[in-house]
Amino acid sequence: MIDGKKTMLSGMQSTGMITLGNYLGALKNWVNLNDEEDIKCFYGIMDLHSITVRQNPAEFRKNARTLLLLYIAAGLDPEKNCIFYQSHVPAHSELGWILDCYTYMGEMNRMTQFKDKAAKHADNINTGLFTYPVLMAADILLYQADLVPVGKDQMQHLEITRDIANRFNGIYGDVFTIPEAYIGKSGAKIMSLQDPTKKMSKSDENPNASIYLLDDKDTIMRKFKRAVTDSDNCIAYSEDKPGIKNLIDIYCAVTKKTPDEAVKDFTGLGYGQLKEIVGEAVAEELAPLYRRYDELLKDKEYVDRAIKNNAEQASYYANKTLRKVKKKIGFTEMPR
Ligand code: TRP
Repeated sequence: MIDGKKTMLSGMQSTGMITLGNYLGALKNWVNLNDEEDIKCFYGIMDLHSITVRQNPAEFRKNARTLLLLYIAAGLDPEKNCIFYQSHVPAHSELGWILDCYTYMGEMNRMTQFKDKAAKHADNINTGLFTYPVLMAADILLYQADLVPVGKDQMQHLEITRDIANRFNGIYGDVFTIPEAYIGKSGAKIMSLQDPTKKMSKSDENPNASIYLLDDKDTIMRKFKRAVTDSDNCIAYSEDKPGIKNLIDIYCAVTKKTPDEAVKDFTGLGYGQLKEIVGEAVAEELAPLYRRYDELLKDKEYVDRAIKNNAEQASYYANKTLRKVKKKIGFTEMPR
């Protein structure tokens, strides 16, 4: 809680270009939350997490800026939400280290995402990758977040955050708010266009598998045209038809229709027409975002000011928690 308001925190890693899946599954939900006056929202550009995988410096910097602009372009007003770079608030690293000392190897060893990522990056299984969830716990606990909007793949990390917070509170008294998962209204899970049994991912090597938020209309239409479906040319919403189901899910997330309504819209059409309609709907949804992004790109001063103000605001709240933590543990305060 902050100033009597419920507090929410979420964020994305600034690695690569975010996809339609990130947008419909997360970002769009955050924007919808804007209307809920009684929640104080923090959204991080989680750049410290990004370096668990090796980054090219120039690209890394650019990706982080792009992600920030996309947050704003999608409708997160930086005057109403605290949008910040994780690396601008040193308290994240500091609490991350502290919480490392309250987390067991055995707990980290059970993290399924670590196992997946370690398998994927076998040449760079660094300890940061291993303790990734502890840094995430620090992100959440620093802001005393009540609510954390996360997808299924991050649930285990939220669970461990709750375990760490409970353990710490058990030793030192009520220091941290115990966060809960916030399941958004739509929260669509969007699958790869090339393999609809796999989640759409920004790290997919095949660019046709994902719609990136800054893809232009031609690219969007082309990718949908190539989307993998099945051979029976019958539009139905069913687990047995993951490709078609995914296209319908995308359509529904964009148009706010139910799958039943969508299937009705498509009666009598073939797959080619379905793909075209879904592509059009997505292009229409993303067009204003693209325009706003372009405006922001030209307004460096506005964006820089927002970054600075929000970093200061985030630091204020984060440092408050960090001071409390250090005092409880018994660190010596620096003499004034
Ligand atoms: N691990 C999250 C992801 O990859 C990103 C993240 C970092 C995050 N810190 C967070 C999400 C804190 C929610 C809260 O999606």
